[in-house]
Amino acid sequence: MQTQLLPVTPSALALAGTLIRAGELVAFPTETVYGLGADALNADAVKRIFEAKGRPGDNPLIVHISAVEQLSPLIAGAPSPTARRLMDACWPGPMTLIFPKSERIPAAVTAGLDTVAVRFPVHPAAQALIDAARRPVAAPSANRSGRPSPTAAAHVMEDMAGRIPLILDGGPCDVGLESTVIDVTGETPRILRPGGVTPERIAQICGDVQVDDAVLRPLREGERPRSPGMKYRHYAPSGALTIVQGEPGAVVAAIRRMYDDALTDGRRPLILALTHRLPAYGDRRCLPLGDSADEMARAMFAALRQADALDADILFSEAVPAEGVGLAVMNRLERAAGFNIVSV
Ligand code: TXA
Ligand code: MG
Repeated sequence: MQTQLLPVTPSALALAGTLIRAGELVAFPTETVYGLGADALNADAVKRIFEAKGRPGDNPLIVHISAVEQLSPLIAGAPSPTARRLMDACWPGPMTLIFPKSERIPAAVTAGLDTVAVRFPVHPAAQALIDAARRPVAAPSANRSGRPSPTAAAHVMEDMAGRIPLILDGGPCDVGLESTVIDVTGETPRILRPGGVTPERIAQICGDVQVDDAVLRPLREGERPRSPGMKYRHYAPSGALTIVQGEPGAVVAAIRRMYDDALTDGRRPLILALTHRLPAYGDRRCLPLGDSADEMARAMFAALRQADALDADILFSEAVPAEGVGLAVMNRLERAAGFNIVSV
């Protein structure tokens, strides 16, 4: 299959809408990461998503809408007061809510769960695609399963060329990390996956918030996570990644030492560093991550892909405090590292 890469124009959107209605897949930009979309009400189309990504069938998808009115046919009952407050404050935007599902959602979308994840993205191209399709669009991140999520159309091309007919190119993604996934089926909102909408913000809106304790630790043997996506190794570069955290001076010294040892062992090391600390690493091979959690969110997935392009076989990364957007950054980085973390 030939994969077309088109800028977001009215004619490209019309083609995208036709493809989705015909049960085909279209990759499209959102404010978080690129999505791989299919008609959420067509079980065969949804199965194609799992094939194209190589995604395990027990990991459910997010259903995307382009207006709040499109929510009620997808869910059972009315949104809870907690859900309402979050929808009013954060939609459209980088937030996904988990609701009891309606009969209309095929089991393939929810991996057999009785809940459905719904998101109303703010990116105009994402909204225009959903409008053009005239139906809800199921979309995971448009990477091959296990790879870093795509934050630019070129990343989607890397992973999906020959597997899907169309990629809409909307430029780089604003947030750079996937949406905050919040279970709103109980009274207190519970964060299953941190993202651009922070725990601090959710607490402000709802008065209270829980962060699922699987967010910053590996799953225990046999544990069933509330969000099935948590169980898979994710976002991983080919090289082995170690996160080094602690006092800045100690972190730099430790990374320099580990890098030099790796080089002596004939490895091909690479450092992921805060931009202002690059000079401290001298002529060692580094990629900059920016200087704040927000910048790191935008830069991280591209850096992990770049590490593969540079053929690094061992990586050392600096960390940021796990607060605000930093919680989402560290959640992804720790998974990319397989929870290989050194405190100095
Ligand atoms: O920002 C995003 O959310 C992007 C863009 C494309 O919208 N999408 C995305 O989808 O990240 P995906 O499939 O890569 O991640 C969806 C996450 C997974 O961790 C999945 O397990 C969880 O949402 N999820 C989906 N449905 C769920 C449900 N009913 N209950 C609990 N978790 C669910
Ligand atoms: Mg994903």
